[in-house]
Amino acid sequence: MLRSSYISGIVSHIMRNEAPVTTQLLTYQPREGDIMPLTFPEFRPTLARFATGVTVVATAFEDRFYGLTVNAFCSVSLEPPLVLISLENASQTLSALRRSQVFSVNILTSAQQELSRRFARKEAEVHKSFDDIPLHRGETGAPLFDEALAYIECQVAAEYPGGDHTLLLGQVVSLFYCDEEEMGEDAPQPLLYISSHYRSLASPERLNRRVEAPAGHNGVRARRPH
Ligand SMILES: Cc1cc2nc3c(=O)[nH]c(=O)nc-3n(C[C@H](O)[C@H](O)[C@H](O)COP(=O)(O)O)c2cc1C
Repeated sequence: MLRSSYISGIVSHIMRNEAPVTTQLLTYQPREGDIMPLTFPEFRPTLARFATGVTVVATAFEDRFYGLTVNAFCSVSLEPPLVLISLENASQTLSALRRSQVFSVNILTSAQQELSRRFARKEAEVHKSFDDIPLHRGETGAPLFDEALAYIECQVAAEYPGGDHTLLLGQVVSLFYCDEEEMGEDAPQPLLYISSHYRSLASPERLNRRVEAPAGHNGVRARRPH
């Protein structure tokens, strides 16, 4: 909990000239009742330097699918198998997910960049259709993308407040991944995201256009033992 009399942070700027690194001290005097009002202009671009994969987190509620693009996803525990996602409080998918208490995490391939863009929009801006996506429902009813690099189906185990986001801990119910060993050259590549740009391992330069889907889709499936 950040409740000290002041909060300070060092922001490093790498300069192009002779001086390799300079530092700037940011200080903040909190007011009565403030918990964590500090904002760093550098916060977003700093976090954007962390390269991630890209997922579509989806759920089903009252015979409708909901989904959003998420890169705030990580593993938490092996036994029991737990994962964590962080969803903005304003997310429509979060509202549906709170009701369904289930979700899928579809880890995208470099051929699925368009899905990442689609599900990063609000329903008011664009119809976030699932109709053209090869998928099936998992045992929780959540949509699992057949052409994903991997997917994980979860039941919500816990929910925690996280500022303007909500953290959801998911207990894994079933999962699938593409087996590179088995698929060889046909194995799809992950879609990567860094500094607000999509990239792939195969072509580390920025991906600015859609990549064709790979042929064939073999993989490994597993379910929670009953
Ligand atoms: C690469 C990428 C990663 C994103 N990661 C997250 C994330 O981890 N959590 C989140 O809440 N929003 C994330 N977003 C933004 C949401 O996808 C976006 O706000 C979306 O419109 C929310 O849709 P919804 O309100 O229908 O749920 C990300 C967007 C992009 C492009």
